[in-house]
Amino acid sequence: MSTHPVPVEYARQTNLTEAQYRKLYDRSLRDPTNFWSEMAQKFVTWYKPWDAVLTGSFEKLNMAWFKQGKLNAAYNCLDRHLGTRSKQAAIIWEGDNPDEVRHITYAELYEDVCRFANVLKKQNVKKGDRVCIYMPMVPEVVVVMLACARIGAIHSVVFGGFSPEALESRILDADCHMVITANEGLRGGKVIPLKKNVDEALINCPQVRKVIVIKRTENPVSWQEERDLWYHDLMKTVMPQCPPEMIDSEDSLFVLYTSGSTGKPKGILHTTGGYLVYAAVTHHYVFDYHDGEIYWCTADVGWITGHTYSVYGPLLNGATTLLFEGVPHYPSFSRFWEIIDKHKVNIFYTAPTAIRALRREGDQFLQGTTRESLKLLGTVGEPIGPDVWEWYYSVVGQSRCPVVDTWWQTETGGILISPLPGATPLKAGSAAWPFFGVEPAIVDDHGNEVADDQMGKLIIKKPWPGMMQTIYKNRDRFVAAYFKEFPGNYLTGDDAKRDSSGYYWITGRNDDVLKIAGHRIGTGEVEAALLHNADVSEAAVVAVPDEIKGEAIYAFVTLKVDIKPTEEIKKALIQQVRKSIGAIATLSYVQWADTLPKTRSGKIMRRLLRKIANNDLTELGDTSTLADPQVVDNLIANRLAVEESSRNN
Ligand code: WTA
Repeated sequence: MSTHPVPVEYARQTNLTEAQYRKLYDRSLRDPTNFWSEMAQKFVTWYKPWDAVLTGSFEKLNMAWFKQGKLNAAYNCLDRHLGTRSKQAAIIWEGDNPDEVRHITYAELYEDVCRFANVLKKQNVKKGDRVCIYMPMVPEVVVVMLACARIGAIHSVVFGGFSPEALESRILDADCHMVITANEGLRGGKVIPLKKNVDEALINCPQVRKVIVIKRTENPVSWQEERDLWYHDLMKTVMPQCPPEMIDSEDSLFVLYTSGSTGKPKGILHTTGGYLVYAAVTHHYVFDYHDGEIYWCTADVGWITGHTYSVYGPLLNGATTLLFEGVPHYPSFSRFWEIIDKHKVNIFYTAPTAIRALRREGDQFLQGTTRESLKLLGTVGEPIGPDVWEWYYSVVGQSRCPVVDTWWQTETGGILISPLPGATPLKAGSAAWPFFGVEPAIVDDHGNEVADDQMGKLIIKKPWPGMMQTIYKNRDRFVAAYFKEFPGNYLTGDDAKRDSSGYYWITGRNDDVLKIAGHRIGTGEVEAALLHNADVSEAAVVAVPDEIKGEAIYAFVTLKVDIKPTEEIKKALIQQVRKSIGAIATLSYVQWADTLPKTRSGKIMRRLLRKIANNDLTELGDTSTLADPQVVDNLIANRLAVEESSRNN
């Protein structure tokens, strides 16, 4: 595997050289207290310093960062920049329609956040209350997130693509009493009925007292006089000043739901101090951010990447962050590249699924754009195969821009493994080296570290400041999901290997979490949705490769005894899953199965199903524990043809 040296044209002064990285990394492991103390002072402003940088451990599971320190997230993202950046754009927003563009300065964003914080107070929202945000990618989403942070309310952003059912379960789990939404969203020329979805979700959420609605389109929506309020009306009634609350470092900043292997989505709870320090430090080093640069992360704020690298990281560092409402293919497949030229984007961060989709359409969509403003490219969310990496590097970035392949998770709060531009020679398809303070290891099923180049499970041995505090209202699940298998270590759920130069190669999940077009979906959620259908007796879901989406959903479904499989039932099942979760969870393959392979104790053998769906029949492993081995032969005989993937060739 050849390495790419730092491109010669990457001429700007980088934040770091390789030698400096190694020195700092060693120090961050040897002396984490002083290392993080210095970072916390440099990147974040505190009202009151902490008593201890880190207390507790992975053994005792009582970690706390910057205990007793006091700060405010909105103050750090806004107020402290006003002296030097009040006229600088905090947000450049481009709408779904390319003609709609807004520049929002730090001073303007500050005023709007103060106003909305006052609105929240008037509505009796208090510190610690959870506020659900179900919005399109408009600047107001940042306003409401930071307004929550300003008064110490905990935001729970739900991706606007989730269905009313999915929204309902998240509102109930977090016990939100307020929902903030828009009448409609716009994506790819299509209207998303956000308010209508909220109305549907709230039928079963009587505790929600108020819905605040941003007017994004001119179309009317249904209205409940007692409950619904227009954002723009409320904003006129309040003052543009609101003193920030002093928040404890370990107080919660937000909850964000994500899928696990089993059960309902988990509310990942992030606290204030550690998260903010980690967001700012990683944004600074990984994106080599320099004053005045235009930074664009394409992630929706409904995901962790949107939280940390569209909102908190860049604003903490006084950056100009570009928010884009639309999709890469509308009005044409040139959209991303046109936005880069129009707004002179310097740093561009997106997901492999988008890169694959644009690459497939052909290089002609890049012609007519120069992308000359770019200095750095980033990717996140799933493995990027070497071929796609090379295209991103050489065609999009014209071999001038380092590519940072960043590995991390909702739970980790920020990037844990990534090249640092300027410092790390690049290897196509590798997330390279650990970030400061991060000590990964690759272990076998017994927890023993494996040799170089051997695949194993990726674990993290020590706490880092950005990590989640717990699962909202479910500490038992937090402990069981992440710390039970290898006590004293954080279990990532990913498989990986490390080569002899210390580069990490992450291949994807080893648990029952799917990554469909970069979106995280649990097999358990899809199976629960399928079981909602009265005709279904049993269902098991696995991932198969997909050229564009990375992974696609393959479902094995057993119908009730007297039900005959038909195209109608299949359509109804696909519809059912979309209704329960959202369009991101569309079934690509449905195989009817008379029975599913089970152990004698009745457990479905998903490992076997995964192999069958993937036509990987060479080593089916030990099938002797199967209640009825004949089942496997039947499933193999009826296997559906899955398109061959070219993603990692
Ligand atoms: C996967 C997204 C390979 C991984 C920030 C992880 C990646 C899951 C990469 C978390 C990468 C993320 N290379 N795989 N660079 N980045 N992943 O919570 O499987 O939506 O466990 O957070 O995405 O997904 P999540």
